[in-house]
Amino acid sequence: MSILVSPSLLASDFANLQSECEMLNESRADWFHVDVMDGVFVPNISIGMPVIKSIKKHARKPLDVHLMIVDPSRYISQFRDAGADILNVHYEACTHLHRTVCQIREAGMRPAVTLNPHTPVALLDDILPEVDMVLLMSVNPGFGGQKFIENTYRKVSQLKEMIERQNLKTLIEIDGGVDSETAPKLASAGADVLVAGSFVFRADKPKERIAWLKDLK
Ligand code: DX5
Ligand code: ZN
Repeated sequence: MSILVSPSLLASDFANLQSECEMLNESRADWFHVDVMDGVFVPNISIGMPVIKSIKKHARKPLDVHLMIVDPSRYISQFRDAGADILNVHYEACTHLHRTVCQIREAGMRPAVTLNPHTPVALLDDILPEVDMVLLMSVNPGFGGQKFIENTYRKVSQLKEMIERQNLKTLIEIDGGVDSETAPKLASAGADVLVAGSFVFRADKPKERIAWLKDLK
């Protein structure tokens, strides 16, 4: 399977979201990565339902929504109504992760669980059959443009092994510091989906960067 690319709109021009969405529609991007921050789970505040609804109006590809908020189970139906197709919740933010994951699926979205850089992948062994994807953070969540944490490669290999051992088709997505140096190594370590913020939106030709990521495998 070729790499899936999910450009992170956090690095886009928020004053021109419609044209940024159109650029992604025309590109080879697979999904739109949308980062939601509450200023509590992470030390930053980004966007919420009204902006997601506006993005949904223009996006012709699935919305991959990454919730960096405490107790995301409070808002599942609201994110579905706003237009989320994939809903990523943090392992560290859910006391009853199994229940939250089931609620996401019942609401008609694809559930994904996200791990902070310090959280071991081994903790996912029991929840793995219930989720469509695991999102490994390769930076501490909250900001774009941070330095990639090298330990991520090891986590990708470990997680890949766990997925194969259980005979599952769970996707591995990586978020943070994806660029021309880290992306090829992530692809060969077994990553299936790459999120890229600065690498795509800070480029002169974002569509070429997306195409380059798509052709990694
Ligand atoms: C960070 C967000 C990322 C961010 C990645 O907390 O989850 O999606 O936009 O940005 P880059 O690709 O610039 O590291
Ligand atoms: Zn993200």
